[in-house]
Amino acid sequence: MEPRIYTSMCEEETFRLGFDMASDLRSGDTVALYGDLGAGKTEFIKGVCEGLSVDEIVSSPTFTIVNQYAGKSSDGRGVIIYHIDLYRVESVDELEEIGLPETLADPLAIKLIEWSEHGTQILPMNRVDVRFTALEGEENCRKIEVQIVGLLEGAADLLS
Ligand SMILES: Nc1ncnc2c1ncn2[C@@H]1O[C@H](COP(=O)(O)OP(=O)(O)OP(=O)(O)O)[C@@H](O)[C@H]1O
Ligand SMILES: [Mg+2]
Repeated sequence: MEPRIYTSMCEEETFRLGFDMASDLRSGDTVALYGDLGAGKTEFIKGVCEGLSVDEIVSSPTFTIVNQYAGKSSDGRGVIIYHIDLYRVESVDELEEIGLPETLADPLAIKLIEWSEHGTQILPMNRVDVRFTALEGEENCRKIEVQIVGLLEGAADLLS
């Protein structure tokens, strides 16, 4: 499936894109985010979590690697959200030590992964990839590319 490409001109627009994506996410889905420091991954995830009615403070779990929030999916059912940040992860062994493959295999939770570049070996086959690129010379401008990888039940909605 062709990727969908957005241009965000400010933090709020990136948040909104995440918020809008939330309504198309089903329990069990994985969103893999890629992009440099400060590209907007956490801002996007804050939007997703707002869309999933998370009340807790959403922040990059850079040191803990995994944060867990309680939310509600669009059908009103409770859903666990794992906010994962692989920035500091250097090897697959490390990912296995902290049980990340099991976390990612949770069929009911929604998984949102920052720095997915550092965990390509363990990403689920079926997922949404979201790639962030800062545009040169335009401080607040970001290209955000959304691509469905493999099979995803809500795929048609995600790219509509
Ligand atoms: N269009 C934009 N979208 C998102 N953030 C933007 C945008 N323009 C400027 N910003 C700024 O860029 C920063 C994005 O920070 P954020 O924490 O979301 O990045 P990140 O990709 O999670 O970085 P890290 O890899 O360090 O976790 C914020 O300071 C935000 O205000
Ligand atoms: Mg971040």
